[in-house]
Amino acid sequence: MQISPSILSADFANLERELKAIANADWAHVDVMDNHFVPNLTLGLPVVEALLRVSPVPVDCHLMIDDPDRWAPGYAEAGARSVTFHVEAAADPVATARAIRSAGARAAFAVKPGTAFAPYEDLLPEVDMVLVMTVEPGFGGQSFMADQMAKVRQVREAVGRHGGEVWIQVDGGVSAATIEQCAEAGADVFVAGSAVYGQESAASAVDELRALAERHRHPA
Ligand code: DX5
Ligand code: ZN
Repeated sequence: MQISPSILSADFANLERELKAIANADWAHVDVMDNHFVPNLTLGLPVVEALLRVSPVPVDCHLMIDDPDRWAPGYAEAGARSVTFHVEAAADPVATARAIRSAGARAAFAVKPGTAFAPYEDLLPEVDMVLVMTVEPGFGGQSFMADQMAKVRQVREAVGRHGGEVWIQVDGGVSAATIEQCAEAGADVFVAGSAVYGQESAASAVDELRALAERHRHPA
């Protein structure tokens, strides 16, 4: 059960301090948005490179960008330990996942709430994680979409059938109020932005979320 706080809800004028505040987390989730794939613009490779120099925990890059086939491997080469691209944007997801892996990172694909998982099940052997979005990608602080839990269960079943170790990440609206249902459905990596950086102590929020997830762990 791993917690990956999203720095999208952190203080962008003090990112080093904000990363150090979550040194007890498993990952730091960095949302890259290009204002094309989603209607918001955040940061790109030069800022990720700077974050990699100071982050106390491995960096989990969530690319909400067009043409990830072209850009995703660069994030892995820069040292991001996990790189997630959206299947809706990828022309050749197999080649992109392989390029990420050969650059030394864990590869993952993400599906938006309106995207079915079944057509992408064949990609499971190519990736280390599947990200099931629990909000429409683009912004932090949105309401959790509980109807996506059926998809998390589907992915969990498919991972069971295929064997191998593929993590299941949820992202969007994950909080103390919603993390239990995610864990019960089979998620094991939890992104939380406002539920970590919106709290008085980000580190305590991480510990609390992890403890809640552990208590509701899906029976493997
Ligand atoms: C949304 C991003 C999320 C976002 C989550 O497109 O992918 O990572 O930061 O924020 P919360 O946890 O506040 O919904
Ligand atoms: Zn994200």
